[in-house]
Amino acid sequence: MAKIIGGITTSHIPAIGIAMDRGIEDTPYWKDFFAAYPPIREWLNEQQPDIAIVFYNDHGLEMFLDKKPTFAIGCASQYENADEGWGIATIPPVTGETELSWHIVNELVENDFDPTVCQDIKVDHGLTVPLSLMYPGRNYQHLKVIPVCINCERHPMPKPSRCYALGQAIGRAVESFPGDQKVVVFGTGGLSHQLDGERAGIINADFDNECMDKLVSDPEALTRYSNDDLIEIAGAQGVELNMWLAMRGCMLGNVREVHRNYVAPISNTGAGTQLLLPE
Ligand code: DHB
Ligand code: FE
Repeated sequence: MAKIIGGITTSHIPAIGIAMDRGIEDTPYWKDFFAAYPPIREWLNEQQPDIAIVFYNDHGLEMFLDKKPTFAIGCASQYENADEGWGIATIPPVTGETELSWHIVNELVENDFDPTVCQDIKVDHGLTVPLSLMYPGRNYQHLKVIPVCINCERHPMPKPSRCYALGQAIGRAVESFPGDQKVVVFGTGGLSHQLDGERAGIINADFDNECMDKLVSDPEALTRYSNDDLIEIAGAQGVELNMWLAMRGCMLGNVREVHRNYVAPISNTGAGTQLLLPE
């Protein structure tokens, strides 16, 4: 059966893509942030996963406020990126995965999750920045990507507990897929941040670190927060934690953290990175 070999959490902010394009990763502002990635790249290089399930949120490139699926999943053989207006270069197409995607869709519907099924979506920085980070030089075409998009922009948003349960359902679907594919799962975005409004700029480093601890040892504790709690504690875009919870749900059992980094502020965010392996 296909196997989930690890979970990775990472920031997705556009400024990272711009910093990589400009080659300024070693400057004082960026070096502690980019220091998180060599061990993760090394692990990916050793393990050579076949498929990446990427939990991300679409910030308006494909799904704007007029059409906002709660959960959407891609089943296409390729995904294009496009200019979002953040100043990041448009990147080469991302390779899709069609068989496990459809199996996941069928299993989700069978298990009372009803995602929007997408055969043609543009993917935004929520997905492309993490991929570019993991594969410098945008050398990611060999990896088959399954985008899973979670609404983090427009109320009502799916609850943290629901996002965790979605991840568990996807994890079980992977485990029931015949084959020997190695699957890595990315939880992108976060951690605490708010981009606009009166509390723009809020960062809660204590909470961010507690989230990273609990993601390893007691993810269910995080599912007891509501989205309103997260917004209060971690800012309006702090709800991007939901993608991390979905990733953790996928891993089903206990995990061991083999790598962690946290830097704040990076742009407007607390930027956390973790590599989790199944136990
Ligand atoms: C920033 C953070 C985000 O989550 C995002 O999607 C875009 C920008 C930022 O802090 O710059
Ligand atoms: Fe974001």
